[in-house]
Amino acid sequence: MPRSSLLVCAAAILRATYSLAAQGTDSIVELRVDASHPGPTIDRNIFGQFAEHLGNGVYDGIWVGKDSTIPNVRGIRSDVVEALRALHVPNVRWPGGCFADEYHWRDGIGPAGVRKTTVNADWGGVLEPNSFGTDEYMDFISQIGSEAYISVNVGSGTPAEAAAWMAYMTADPATSAGKERAANGHPAPYRVKYLGIGNESWGCGGAMTPDYYVSQLKIYARFARNYNPMQSGDQAMRRIAVGADGSKTDYVEAVMRAWHDKVWSWDIEGVSLHSYTSAGWPPAHPSTHFGDSEYTAFLKDALNMEGLIAQHSRLMDQYDPQKKIPLVVDEWGAWLAPLPGSNPGFLVQQNSLRDAILAALNLDIFARHADRVRMANIAQMINVLQAMIMTDRERMVLTPTYYVFRMYAPFQDAALIPVQVDAGGRRSGALPRVDAIAARDTHGKLWLAAVNLDPERPVRIRASFAGTSVRIARGQVLTAGHVDSVNTFDSPRLVQPVPIEGAASAGALVLDLPAKSVSVLQVQP
Ligand code: AHR
Repeated sequence: MPRSSLLVCAAAILRATYSLAAQGTDSIVELRVDASHPGPTIDRNIFGQFAEHLGNGVYDGIWVGKDSTIPNVRGIRSDVVEALRALHVPNVRWPGGCFADEYHWRDGIGPAGVRKTTVNADWGGVLEPNSFGTDEYMDFISQIGSEAYISVNVGSGTPAEAAAWMAYMTADPATSAGKERAANGHPAPYRVKYLGIGNESWGCGGAMTPDYYVSQLKIYARFARNYNPMQSGDQAMRRIAVGADGSKTDYVEAVMRAWHDKVWSWDIEGVSLHSYTSAGWPPAHPSTHFGDSEYTAFLKDALNMEGLIAQHSRLMDQYDPQKKIPLVVDEWGAWLAPLPGSNPGFLVQQNSLRDAILAALNLDIFARHADRVRMANIAQMINVLQAMIMTDRERMVLTPTYYVFRMYAPFQDAALIPVQVDAGGRRSGALPRVDAIAARDTHGKLWLAAVNLDPERPVRIRASFAGTSVRIARGQVLTAGHVDSVNTFDSPRLVQPVPIEGAASAGALVLDLPAKSVSVLQVQP
């Protein structure tokens, strides 16, 4: 680590220690962790991402072109790839979003000279050069070690167009589609692990009635075939139907009823839920320069995800009590007012400590519903909405949300362990004091994630672990001076994790959490 980074880290530890001492841990929250009863697997796919052709999400964010002075591999920027590899991103949803229902895949294949220039009518009306198409997307996910999640165009496309796209991506090199792919540089079939059949077909995807959408779904689910011979059994492609718009249940109801009553000729393996945290619509809350009351209102709104998932799970249980069909939360995150001076169609916002806490709370909710929520995609990966990364030409900055995703990586495919939080009835305004999850990873290690939601007061937690002995816990904590602290291109390390440690006392793990913080620790016997 460079000396300057060490100094920044040391300063941050001192700041965290100072703030604990100065503010005093004025209450204890008891956690009961039942390690003897591991629950369902927290599917790694809940840490999925979303990259739409929107603003600078793809162009500049991922794609800079082969001739760029920004270091790149085949046009894909290397700094972004390196940062994303550290997150172990399980899947990347692409090309949209609303954009997907206007995307024609043929515009984005072949030599640069034959690609069409089109208009991105959804997002700012800017020119879409189609330089980043199917082969570039596949190259990108291969560079970051991720799986493909393709959204096909149901709104303005046809089943034939979707079927031809699938053939281009997955058919044998001896077929015409496979030969065309080989001519574009990739003889072997690509893996398409997830296929979204439309996007928000209740809205920008064509404002279809639930019944009309279901009739389309059956056709696409049958004919958009995956021909890759390596994708059978548990590697088979999973098709995800359009589901809920927030709390609206009509699509989930119609899709699940159709699935329950289906005949042999079609199937699906997931239903979506889209829900953003915006504390009102249209999004008008600023992403910078806000205080504790705004913080509290926003996190309160974020916690509504719990009720939404419970609501849709109950409905799905009626048709699928064995929980074969996952609820796929493939758009979620903070949606804030566009940054002043930015193109409002580009959905540019800053990303603060508050947003990192919001991300942790959502991940905790998804984990607690691991039996039904087996995939989720934060919106969006780079430069758009609640991004992991922001870029400005050759510069790149990692957001507080990025660090939460990096800290939570051990929870990918870990077995959920029930945690009971007893805050002694103490609440911080409208917010719970502490949120926590625990899990045992695939190597048998025990992990604890704990969020102190209180914007001002640190908290001491005392965690008892049934079914395992505990000696020490070591990990990282993310906090900052203010709820609206952000990383900028000029000060990129204001919000970043620092070490945290707790130790056993009288049989329980004692840990001091700074105010407004996210901690992830490995608990050791
Ligand atoms: O993520 C931005 C947009 O939000 C997506 O394109 C759309 O699906 C949703 O309404």
